[in-house]
Amino acid sequence: MEIKKVVVIGSGTMGSGIAAHLCNAGIPVTLLDLTTEISEKARERIHKSRPPLLIDKSKINNINVGNIEENFDVVKDADWVVEAVVERIDIKHNIYEKIFKNRKKGAIVSSNTSSIPIKVLSEKLNDEEKKDFCITHFFNPVRYMGLLEIVKNENNDLNKINSLKKFCEVELGKGAIVCNDTPGFLGNRIGVYAMQVAMTEAFKMKLSIEEADAVFGRPMGIPKTGVFGLYDLIGIDLMADVLKSFIKELSEKDEFQIVAKEIPLVKKLIETGYTGRKGKGGFYRMNKSGDQKILEAINLETGKYSATKKIDLGIETVDISNLINRKDKFGEYAWIVISKIIKYASSLVPGITDQFNDIDEAMRLGFNWAMGPFEMLKSIGVKNFFERIDSFENNKFLENLSKTKDENFYGERQLYTDIQTLGKIRPSAIKLDKNNSAEIHRFKDFNIVEFTTKACALDYDSMDALKNATDKPLIVINESMQFSAGVNLSYTMNFADKGDFKSIEKFIKYFQDTCKTLKYSKHPVVSAPSGLTLGGGFEVLVQSNFVASHTNLVIGLVETIVGLVPAGGGCKEMLWRWSQTEEAKSDPDYAPLKVFDIIGYAKTATSPIEAEPLKYLRTEDRKIMNRNSLFEEAKNLINQNNDFVPPEECKFKLSGKPLKDKMIKVLEKLYNEKIILDHGMHVGTELANVLSGGDTTIEKALSEDDLYKLELDSFMRLIETKQTQERIRHTLSTGKPLIN
Ligand code: NAI
Repeated sequence: MEIKKVVVIGSGTMGSGIAAHLCNAGIPVTLLDLTTEISEKARERIHKSRPPLLIDKSKINNINVGNIEENFDVVKDADWVVEAVVERIDIKHNIYEKIFKNRKKGAIVSSNTSSIPIKVLSEKLNDEEKKDFCITHFFNPVRYMGLLEIVKNENNDLNKINSLKKFCEVELGKGAIVCNDTPGFLGNRIGVYAMQVAMTEAFKMKLSIEEADAVFGRPMGIPKTGVFGLYDLIGIDLMADVLKSFIKELSEKDEFQIVAKEIPLVKKLIETGYTGRKGKGGFYRMNKSGDQKILEAINLETGKYSATKKIDLGIETVDISNLINRKDKFGEYAWIVISKIIKYASSLVPGITDQFNDIDEAMRLGFNWAMGPFEMLKSIGVKNFFERIDSFENNKFLENLSKTKDENFYGERQLYTDIQTLGKIRPSAIKLDKNNSAEIHRFKDFNIVEFTTKACALDYDSMDALKNATDKPLIVINESMQFSAGVNLSYTMNFADKGDFKSIEKFIKYFQDTCKTLKYSKHPVVSAPSGLTLGGGFEVLVQSNFVASHTNLVIGLVETIVGLVPAGGGCKEMLWRWSQTEEAKSDPDYAPLKVFDIIGYAKTATSPIEAEPLKYLRTEDRKIMNRNSLFEEAKNLINQNNDFVPPEECKFKLSGKPLKDKMIKVLEKLYNEKIILDHGMHVGTELANVLSGGDTTIEKALSEDDLYKLELDSFMRLIETKQTQERIRHTLSTGKPLIN
């Protein structure tokens, strides 16, 4: 079965996301709604979406739009029809009747429902129709969320389901997990339960919402929005509807019922329009007084708002064991929440899926958790868990495990896919080394470096791991959300705060030295990024020999935003790439001026398609839809380059002063137009100094070391200024740039 044309019916949040993602995969798609006006509006929304749903915005017109009355004929040609209309069974049934009357024989029809059982959806279909009908439950936003739950019915043609699964895996890049027909399937059943437990326990323990979010967040390997932040993001009213549906669908004895009970404060928030970020605010709200904005948090007991308090648990990486063993309220809260999630998830096996493993993977792919409940159990340790847990009646999984006490119960990861992923091979790789910021593994005859810090920010230890791993071919890859958000600014500021600029200089030199080692090592180095690949993260990538990139990446040199210039070879490599263009052959200033514009404006790309014109990526760099395939692709790159020879050293011919003057003219114009201010002028001048080659002439050939030196000197001069330090501190405390 080949899927060459798709029709999506319903152009709301999900339908438009699905259509956009099919467009990303190069599949012709038509989006139908009640009126063409509605589906046209949806197409406009796709075009403007942030983060962008499209990998390549110029392809927007590959999404055709129409209405279900005049344009329904498109269904006759479709190999797959996806229904994503409102969650109303009468409307869905009417649509199916129409689709099955018109569809091509054998075409697949699926629903994106999040809560209606397939039994109910398909009750009016005949056996022949049921063969080709299933649920394909995508997550929002479709481009970015890895999970796709596929729910079969008992009549399905299994070959067809398998080829649909394959299509969604390979072409759409999804982690496609087949699951049973139970309420909320895997992701939402466990994910929403987890949120409810985290919320109700916070109420019971009288924690502040900041305290709860500080625990039910990064320390647990859960996105930093936490529980209350996530509630605000999803919409408190929408969550209430989701809960109502669970209460209705699940048996009275289901543990979910206990945590889904209405909470008076939540009810009041909805009634008064405090429905979250889309409303007047929610558990958090932004209070604007004058031109000041203050983030406030609600008090769960009084319902009153006050300025948020930062909670620092002193935990940088996920460490469940340490977290639950803390002798404070945070440790107690973490244990109660985690143990309840483990108990609930395990009680549902095999009812919701035969593979407990799939529940973990659904939580990773659908909720961006670093580990699922069963992996949490593994990391706590089976023996430790049973020593602390009080009861686990009617839980076959835990009853068995309590008898076997098998610490190795977990087995392999990612059973839902045949792809050889990093997660699958990690247990069989040899752990060569581990420091505070990275791990080195040896797999077969190559090394793997995984960064392990928050947002994979880079410091001395990260560089040390990279450098030490170049004795073999090397793959730089990880499973966290980001490849690397750049150099660890708090690490750098710790030195700056003490006036210890020598240590910063030492670090930057080591960074440069490491990147040089990567580039010229006699073995190939492959970077396999996904997510943020910024600043120093980009410098590691750009000085790797090969790249296998996920299509969801945000890439760029953003140092100027915090008042710095790239100093790990970013300026140098961008200059080199642009100097290889046709235009640069006839104009020696072409490349530096281009790079001045790109780095000066801290331009970023949100996909490989956007990255190529900026030369953040090269045409030959591999671009991959399925993140799970990054490891295999990186491995292929190593295997296909057995005869690898390191690149030749680059030489640069730059015009020096006359070029710098040209760049300063650009800056002066921006300054006069008040687009940049005094410090912006200063940063721009330093960047101009690097990119013009400093004190040089066009006849002189500069080496890579000369360029590294220029980068370092400018970086050091800038980091010593109060204004740059103020920018960095502001970014560290707010996560946002300081505009002044
Ligand atoms: P939505 O309300 O954003 O969009 C629904 C669209 O269906 C609207 O554009 C509406 O005009 C259209 N529609 C209504 N009746 C129609 C008909 N007879 N023919 C054609 N179009 C019709 O809804 P949303 O959020 O996109 O949800 C769609 C489906 O996806 C639902 O089944 C929902 O449960 C499911 N879902 C929603 C998720 C979410 O995060 N919003 C996540 C996963 C699944």
